Amino acid sequence: METGLKNRVAIVAASSQGLGRATAEAFAAEGCRLAMCARNRETLAEATESIRARYKTEVLAEPFDVTDANAVRDFVTAVVQKFGGVDICVTNAGGPPAKGFLATTIEEWRRAIDLNFMSTVYFAHQVIPHMQKKKWGRIITITSVTTKQPVGDLVYSNAVRAAVVGLVKSLANEFGKDGILVNNVGPGFTATDRLKELARSRSVALNKTEKEIFEGWAADAPLKRLGEPRELADTIVWLASERASYITGQTVLVDGGLYKGL
Ligand SMILES: NC(=O)c1ccc[n+]([C@@H]2O[C@H](COP(=O)([O-])OP(=O)(O)OC[C@H]3O[C@@H](n4cnc5c(N)ncnc54)[C@H](OP(=O)(O)O)[C@@H]3O)[C@@H](O)[C@H]2O)c1
Repeated sequence: METGLKNRVAIVAASSQGLGRATAEAFAAEGCRLAMCARNRETLAEATESIRARYKTEVLAEPFDVTDANAVRDFVTAVVQKFGGVDICVTNAGGPPAKGFLATTIEEWRRAIDLNFMSTVYFAHQVIPHMQKKKWGRIITITSVTTKQPVGDLVYSNAVRAAVVGLVKSLANEFGKDGILVNNVGPGFTATDRLKELARSRSVALNKTEKEIFEGWAADAPLKRLGEPRELADTIVWLASERASYITGQTVLVDGGLYKGL
């Protein structure tokens, strides 16, 4: 399948490991020029070097926290200076803690909003004017299956990610005329470090082993297994590609059928 992505400039936020890293690799494999970030400098440098070596592609990497609006602004400015524009922006961040409602705190709610909603706003604000100039752009948000089907104990994710979907639909409506397509992808349970973290907290809360927790997640999906990061990444590449040129304002779940609705 010809994706038409060669030489496109792709920002992938929070991309030193897990879903973000797999997405960065998938764009590199399509010949995109890449911009990556994460907070930990060493992990980011390791990911960047490995991608440069494997795909022989240009990569700009900056360590910063996506909840810092000024850092996002400076990063996008640096990307435009280096590559002459931004074509694709994949927003991503770490996940909020797993809690039931009465265990939540106001501080953590604010943090979850900053981490999983405001970070998306910061990137969108910065990249859209550059995309408008080119009359071409793709913004793809990584959220969760929780945008369609709330997951027990993930009340921060269930609530805050719904706001991202509202933003995605609004941006799709407002900027479709500029050739900017805005979509959301919702991973189901996918084998990354974040999932190990969730399994640990759930095994304590439910008095089960982590193995039992993983088996339970796999059993919930009709495909009877966890997702692989590459499976989400390939969906993002397809959404960014010329092959998905009439799709905007949508949420695509990559969840092995976990979502039980129609
Ligand atoms: N894996 C799943 O099953 C699953 C399912 C549904 C939704 N999700 C969501 O998808 C997102 C990615 O999950 P994942 O499984 O890939 O997580 P992961 O394996 O923990 O990776 C998270 C990545 O984001 C970076 N990061 C975290 N917080 C950041 C911040 N404030 N600023 C900049 N970079 C940051 C991390 O690097 P640093 O720590 O160095 O910053 C790392 O590169 C999360 O929001 C998660 O909740 C995951």
